[in-house]
Amino acid sequence: MKIIKLNAIDSTNSFLKDLAQNSTLENYTVAITEDQTKGRGQQESKWVTAPLKNLTFSIFVKFNKLRINQKRYLNFAISLAIYDALLEKKIDKISIKWPNDIMAANKKICGILIENTFIGDRIKNSITGIGLNVNQEIFPEYLKNVTSLKLEKGFDFNLNNLLNDILIKIQEKIKLLENNEFDLLENSYLNVLYKKNIPTMFKNCQNEIFIGIIYGISTDGKLQIQLEDDSIKEFGIKEVSFL
Ligand code: BTN
Repeated sequence: MKIIKLNAIDSTNSFLKDLAQNSTLENYTVAITEDQTKGRGQQESKWVTAPLKNLTFSIFVKFNKLRINQKRYLNFAISLAIYDALLEKKIDKISIKWPNDIMAANKKICGILIENTFIGDRIKNSITGIGLNVNQEIFPEYLKNVTSLKLEKGFDFNLNNLLNDILIKIQEKIKLLENNEFDLLENSYLNVLYKKNIPTMFKNCQNEIFIGIIYGISTDGKLQIQLEDDSIKEFGIKEVSFL
């Protein structure tokens, strides 16, 4: 495993993407920065982090046989790696909010951005960016409902140790993926899903509010929600949000 440490960079995902385009990257190459100036989040959002306080890194992983229609298992694997690492730190009430926000006591503690490169019907490699709130205690007003390890536990965490623990977990989960342990990954993911089995309020892209219960994840990674009339409807990432 190769770890590239950067004092400051626009985005560790973009950095690894450029590197992968211009050179042959070793499997599990990691880029980590103390200060990310133009962090990218899901759905073209921005990811803002406090310099030196948090974990801000990306990891490059190569695949030989993972098919595009198995993409959701990669998301399960990465989300579970972070989930497990936080569980080991005894963070209370951790869950995974579909598709891959990691929550602690109903507040977001970690964001994940997975960017894949394809070849034919296969995923050739992926760059996974992870932004984990670690020692940050004060968040800007517009970031509602967020927390950090420090806010949850009351003490500072060593960023290097935490990074090592997470990287080990990521490798463990990717091994499961390579060993075709798809059901195990799916069941583990569903088991720790945020708002699982609880009637929950959602908003669709027409801004309509509705109540439903999470039923599962479709083969193309959509969220399946059981509606009040018992029908099951599937929603893509842009089609639904939690209220
Ligand atoms: C999200 O929840 O919207 C995903 C956030 C992902 C942020 C991480 S920080 C490291 C990596 N580099 C980026 O530009 N984004 C990801």
